[in-house]
Amino acid sequence: MRTELTWLGHACWQLRTAERTILIDPFLDESPTAPVRAADIEADVILVTHGHFDHIADAAPIAKRTGATVIANFEIAQWLTNVHGVTATVGMNLGGSYDLGGAKVTMVPAWHSSQLPDGSYGGNPGGFILQLSGKRLYFAGDTALFSDMQLFARGGLDLAVLPIGDLFTMGIEDSIRAIRWLAPKQVAPSHYGTWPPIAVDAGQWAEAVRRETSAEPIVVEPGGKFLV
Ligand code: NI
Ligand code: MN
Repeated sequence: MRTELTWLGHACWQLRTAERTILIDPFLDESPTAPVRAADIEADVILVTHGHFDHIADAAPIAKRTGATVIANFEIAQWLTNVHGVTATVGMNLGGSYDLGGAKVTMVPAWHSSQLPDGSYGGNPGGFILQLSGKRLYFAGDTALFSDMQLFARGGLDLAVLPIGDLFTMGIEDSIRAIRWLAPKQVAPSHYGTWPPIAVDAGQWAEAVRRETSAEPIVVEPGGKFLV
C-alpha cells in the first residue's frame, strides 16, 4: 500500500494511506498558493512542526471541524487546548515517538524558532520522521542545515521533504548537502514560492539534485500529488 502525498502549497502536505489522512503544517486560507480552503480539507491527524503562523494558522479550525488529533510539541499542544479549545491533542517533544496504530511519528530537532502567533512561547521547533505503510519519511519543517541530519539516514529514508526557499530556512545549496547526508530515495522541496522573498527556481534545484545526489527529485505544483 503506497502513500499519496499532496502538496497544499508552502509547507503544508496531506498524506493519504488506507488507514488515515495526515495533514502537516496546515496553512491554507491565508496562503497565496494553497489550492484548497481550510473548510474543505479532511484530516484524521494533524502534525505541527512549530508555532509560526505559516505552519499552524488553520490547525485549530480544521481540528475542531474534523475531530482530528493534533500532534505537536508540548507547548503548542497546550496552547491549542487552552487558547483554541482543541481537545484532541498529543503533546510530545524532541526525540520522542508516538504510535498512531500501525504508524509511528518521531519528533526530531530542527534549527529554527517557534513563537506562536499571539506571542506565546512555542517550545522548540521540530521535524517529523514518519514510519507508515512500510516507508520511512522525513519532514524537516523549517530548519537550517545541521550535521545531525546524518543520523536520520540510519534505517534508510524513502522520502525527505526539505525547505529550499532560503531566508527563513536553508536554501538550495544547503539542501543539496542535506540530501547527500539524508540519502533519501526521493526528495521533495517545500517552503518556497509562497511569497517573493522565498521565490526560488525549483527546476534549478531539481537539476542540482540529479547532478549532485543520488536522490530522485519530485517537484509538483500546489495541489499536485505523488506516491511514495
Ligand atoms: Ni517558521
Ligand atoms: Mn515557515
